[in-house]
Amino acid sequence: MPSCRMYSALLYLHSYNRWLLLFAGLFVLFLTVRGLLQQSPFGRRERIAGLVFLISMDVQFLLGILLYAFFNAEVKAAFANFGAAMKQASLRFFAVEHFALGLIAMILLHVGNVLARRAADDNKHRKLKLIFFSLTLLVVLLAIPWPFREQIARPLLR
Ligand code: HEM
Repeated sequence: MPSCRMYSALLYLHSYNRWLLLFAGLFVLFLTVRGLLQQSPFGRRERIAGLVFLISMDVQFLLGILLYAFFNAEVKAAFANFGAAMKQASLRFFAVEHFALGLIAMILLHVGNVLARRAADDNKHRKLKLIFFSLTLLVVLLAIPWPFREQIARPLLR
């Protein structure tokens, strides 16, 4: 039986890791745009920042799956009566929307990485990253239950 301590640990990690994910993503976008403008060769800093972005996304996804499958009360309540749950914003958000947006964000990031890795030159590599990573960040922003979002609001920091 999963413990209460484990639940809060996962929730804290999922909450804090969102900031690592967002800052890593923004930093990668900044380096990508700068690289495109300066036409500089693709370097170590860009590679490491990209790796941090990718790993923080995979960690976020894994933590999310654990919360989803074993702990979250909204998800449990939603699956007890799925039809009724879809009419209630908070149950629908955590059971369907948040999960779907998180999945889409992860897929966009991985597809962008694979396509960029196969690109013939640094310029094309960066253009692909710019497109896919901007979309990834947009979807991540939509997935987050920000404090200003009525009915699904969660704190900025736990
Ligand atoms: C784009 C990636 C994701 C981001 C940025 C993200 C962010 C967050 C944030 C900020 C919270 C609120 C945490 C809190 O209450 O302090 C949350 C809650 C939650 N997330 Fe995610 N999430 C992501 C992906 C996922 C995925 C893919 C799943 C499920 C498969 C998931 C499942 C959950 C669940 C179940 C909760 C509610 C936890 C609870 O209160 O019991 N998340 N997420």
